[in-house]
Amino acid sequence: MSKTFFIHDNFEALSPLLEGKKEVVVLIDKGISHLYGRYFPFPQIEVEISEGQKTLATVETIAKRLVAMECSRSTFLLCVGGGILTDIGGFVASIFKRGIKCGYLPTTLLAQVDASTGGKTGVNLDGLKNILGTFSLPEFTYINTSTLRTLPRRELLAGAAEMIKAFAIKDAESFAKAKNYLTQGFDTGTPEFRELLATAIQIKADVVERDFRESGERKLLNFGHTFGHAIEKCAAAAREPLLHGEAVAKGMKIAAQISALKGYLPEESLKEFCSTLDMMGFDLQVPYGVENLMDAVKNDKKRGENGVDFVLLQEIGKSCIETISFEDLAKAAADVLH
Ligand SMILES: NC(=O)c1ccc[n+]([C@@H]2O[C@H](COP(=O)([O-])OP(=O)(O)OC[C@H]3O[C@@H](n4cnc5c(N)ncnc54)[C@H](O)[C@@H]3O)[C@@H](O)[C@H]2O)c1
Ligand SMILES: [Zn+2]
Repeated sequence: MSKTFFIHDNFEALSPLLEGKKEVVVLIDKGISHLYGRYFPFPQIEVEISEGQKTLATVETIAKRLVAMECSRSTFLLCVGGGILTDIGGFVASIFKRGIKCGYLPTTLLAQVDASTGGKTGVNLDGLKNILGTFSLPEFTYINTSTLRTLPRRELLAGAAEMIKAFAIKDAESFAKAKNYLTQGFDTGTPEFRELLATAIQIKADVVERDFRESGERKLLNFGHTFGHAIEKCAAAAREPLLHGEAVAKGMKIAAQISALKGYLPEESLKEFCSTLDMMGFDLQVPYGVENLMDAVKNDKKRGENGVDFVLLQEIGKSCIETISFEDLAKAAADVLH
């Protein structure tokens, strides 16, 4: 839940947001600084981006650079990059000199639709994802959709999975629009795309506003993620790594199938949901055994004592949470994956 988000197809409307700021420092993904660095006439710190670099060591390196640049508590940190960069940058901003202000300029679809909204920042520790972090909001999120033009197609589609997720849990009308629009090799330069993006962000922002610390409704945003995370882990272990959104698409199909199995989601809606994912271009095969998947589910940080709070679809656009024991979940997964 950024206090404000802006969606444009250029960088021109950024300057008014920075007006009056005494000192701006840009933190930018090193992999894209040759593409976008020139748009920001401020001192820049380039950060090498990978999950392996999303660590306290990187935080320390950045903090040392800020100290060397004699940054004060009124320094403003402009974070330019994908979700890894905004997660690290937001974390640094929340702890440097006990907190400085920052703004996000997310450049991947995943970061635009998901990572830059909701106030979660953080880094990994010993391979445990996002285990160190803070809840902290940027002053603004500025999205320039034209940055998506340089994003590899695979990354773009993976980000679109989180858009579909938002519509699936909350907004049937937008799901129908997305079905028409995102299944036709979607063009990120159009007003239709910007509208879908804005709606998906607003859905997350609204949910987060009602449940900032994830004690209830925010869990709906985990739709597709119980098995999505498990599939992501199995794929990594098999040395066939998947992007998060690719795994979540498979996880959403399983969750929808389990919703139908439990009598929540009508068969026709299940078909419509799965065919939409399929037409978008997701590979929905799950080449891992239920046992392996359940081992990963049991190790997930979001598991409960004896089961998981599982997100089910009651209809496309309507969702609920049911606590399901590991045993029942394994049975349901075996049924739908057979
Ligand atoms: N804070 C949250 O609520 C939240 C939510 C979801 C995900 N995340 C985090 O987000 C991270 C994943 O983010 P991501 O998918 O954006 O990955 P990422 O930051 O690694 O970016 C993906 C790749 O795209 C490149 N890239 C970025 N912008 C580009 C552009 N415009 N053109 C070309 N290449 C570009 C990057 O260099 C990188 O190689 C994970 O670490 C995850 O934990 C956080
Ligand atoms: Zn996700």
